[in-house]
Order: sequence, then C-alpha cells, then structure tokens
Amino acid sequence: MKIAIPGESDKNEPRVAASPETVRKFVALGAELAVQTGAGKGAWITDAEFREAGATVSKSFEATVKDADIVLKVRRPSAAEAGKMKAGAVVIALMDPYGNEAELEGLAKAGVTAFAMELLPRITRAQTMDALSSQANLAGYRAVIDAAAEYNRSFAMMMTAAGTIAAARVFVMGAGVAGLQAIATARRLGAVVSATDVRPAAKEQVESLGGKFIAVEDEEFREAETAGGYAKEMSKEYQDKQAALIAEHIVKQDVVITTALIPGRPAPRLVSKTMIETMKPGSIIVDMALERGGNVEGAKPDTVTDHKGVRVIGYVNWPGRIATTASNLYARNLYALVETMIDKEAGALKIDWEDQIVTATALTRDGDVIHPSFAGKGE
Ligand code: NAI
Repeated sequence: MKIAIPGESDKNEPRVAASPETVRKFVALGAELAVQTGAGKGAWITDAEFREAGATVSKSFEATVKDADIVLKVRRPSAAEAGKMKAGAVVIALMDPYGNEAELEGLAKAGVTAFAMELLPRITRAQTMDALSSQANLAGYRAVIDAAAEYNRSFAMMMTAAGTIAAARVFVMGAGVAGLQAIATARRLGAVVSATDVRPAAKEQVESLGGKFIAVEDEEFREAETAGGYAKEMSKEYQDKQAALIAEHIVKQDVVITTALIPGRPAPRLVSKTMIETMKPGSIIVDMALERGGNVEGAKPDTVTDHKGVRVIGYVNWPGRIATTASNLYARNLYALVETMIDKEAGALKIDWEDQIVTATALTRDGDVIHPSFAGKGE
C-alpha cells in the first residue's frame, strides 16, 4: 500500500498534509510513503526529516503519486493533477466543495475517489479527524497575534511608574471554534473581551472564557442553531436588530475580530463602512471570513487596508500563517481518518462504504460525483 504526499501547487498554501510523526505511524502500519521534494518547505519540515521518518522523497508530482493507493493533500488537486493518479486512488484533502461542483466533476472524471475533510460529521468518533476545528482553532489564535502586532498600543492593562495604561477592548464576532480561541488568546494578552454570536449555546462558552456576551436574544436567536450545531442564516429583521446593537457596541472597541460563517452560504456582512468610521483612528479590524466573501465591508484579501485610520486586516489563509503547527495537527487529523480505512492485518486499503464518516465525506467514486449535496450539480 503506497501513500503519497505531493507538494501543494497553490503558491499561497504553505501547509503540508503529513508530518514526520504521521509518516512514522503510517510506516508502522506497513505503508510505503512517498513525499514530493520540498513539500514541507513552507511548514519548515525538511526532506531529510521525512526521509528519517521512513519516507522516500520523489522529485516530481508524477513520481510521487504514481501507483499510490492514497494521496493526502491540503487543498483539492486539479483535474489534471488527479489525472496523474491511478484510477480509483483515494484522495483526501480540504476540498472546498461548495460552489466548486464543476471541479468535483473533474475529479470524478479523472477516476479518483475523493474525500472532503470539511464534511466530516461532528460526532465524538470523528473529533480526532476534525480538520475544520484543528485549523480554525489555530486561525483564531493567529488572528489575535496579528491584530496585536498591528495595534500600536498595549493589549494588557499595566501599572507603570509613568502611569497606568488601559487594557485594549477586543470584540469577537462569531464564537465558534476560531472565535472562542480568539477570545481566549486576547484574554491571555490582557484585553477586555466581549463577543457575539447568533447561536444561544455560544453565550455560556463566551462567558466561561471570561468574555462578555452581546447579542439580540429574541425568539429567533433561541432557535438559531441547526442540529449539526451550526448557525442558520438569520432573517432580515434579526439582521437589522443585530446591526443596531453592534453599531452601538463597536464605537467603544479598539480591536474587532470577525469569524462569522454559515456552512455553504456567503459569510454574513456584519460590519459596514459607517460602523468602521465610528471607531477611533488606530483601531484594528480583522476579517477572518474573507474566504467566503468576508464579514467586513471593504476588507480585501491578503491586504491591510486603512479606512480613515482604522486598519482592516484581511488575510485569507490564517492557518497557513502558523503553518508548522497547522500542518502537524492537519496531518494527525488525516492519519486518524486514514487509519479507519486500512485493514491492518492485510496492510491494504479497505473502505467501509456503510460507515457514517465515509458516506458523509465521500465526494466521488467510479467516475461519478456521489455525494448527495453535490451529485449532478457540476455537469
Ligand atoms: P463556523 O466556522 O461555521 O462559524 C463561526 C461562528 O460564526 C459560529 O459560531 C456561528 O454561529 C457564527 N455566526 C454565523 N452567523 C453569524 C452572525 N450573523 N452573527 C454572529 N455570529 C454568526 O462555526 P464553527 O467554528 O465550525 O463551530 C460551529 C459549532 O460547532 C460550534 O458550536 C462548535 O462548538 C461546534 N463544534 C462541535 C464539534 C464536535 O465535534 N462536536 C467540533 C467543533 C465544533
């Protein structure tokens, strides 16, 4: 059984889908590992480290994936890349499937069996595989570090001989995995933190981290969580009430970090230019939702924009800004999933097509897009 780790063709993707630790574990399962030269460069993992862990290092993408039974990636391969893999090869990555149905069709036509890490069900058994959580957690941490680096004042309250310095006021919008880690990180740096969300479950979580919860807590809010634990798109009336509350709160904030996402939908617009203009010059806004259109009006991908003295940070690949740790955790998520697809006695691939984890994540098989949310939509 051969497992391949090609490099990422997207130049903006420094992460890698394996670590020396997971290579060792796969080798212990009896697999043969091939890593493309330089695949770990962006995450500061050298070819030598992969070799020491038991992998062979191949020169090209083609040589790496040739005859591989399993190909592990960070991002979805192109149809051309998938065409270089053997028919029926299992390819696992963050496939970004929503809105990319034509690309999924391309993977199906190339004959690979593709699985999307972001479609893993959030059940207890899948927690070790949950790449959305492992990456969002680090993204939330990094966003606060970036905000603190741009902010020209202290986050912490300090009593100095020259007088007292006030703590920064940080407001986190969207208290999911990224938002909760942003709250915890900002608190560790000494900021006074508040946060909002549309899911009622978030209130207790925010408060347990020492944040103040701010939200329109009406009837719609009480029912705003889906069975999967995600947010719903809110009504126009709710959005108007929320905007009024946020507008009032934002004036007093030094740093705003937005993380609000709704799976499969564009990110909700939460901060308008008018709101930005009410903030003090020198304030910082971080938009973590730009991959799905952004929460902040005027935020630009991979740019720090200055709007009347308020800087809006709009990086897109937040986990990529902490690439070594993000790669190590993502590699562990992949290992936890792949381990369930291997028959350890036979040392061969054995997928249980009845398993909930498999049915939830499988996108393509035998030339077709098979996932019910995407089948037939990309032709
Ligand atoms: P996400 O990345 O989809 O969204 C981020 C946050 O934005 C969410 O908390 C969402 O409610 C919020 N949001 C959406 N629209 C908003 C709006 N208009 N205004 C303010 N906030 C808005 O969410 P993420 O981080 O994936 O977490 C979703 C839930 O899943 C959370 O409850 C989390 O604790 C839970 N979870 C459960 C896991 C499990 O294994 N059981 C693992 C990881 C997360």
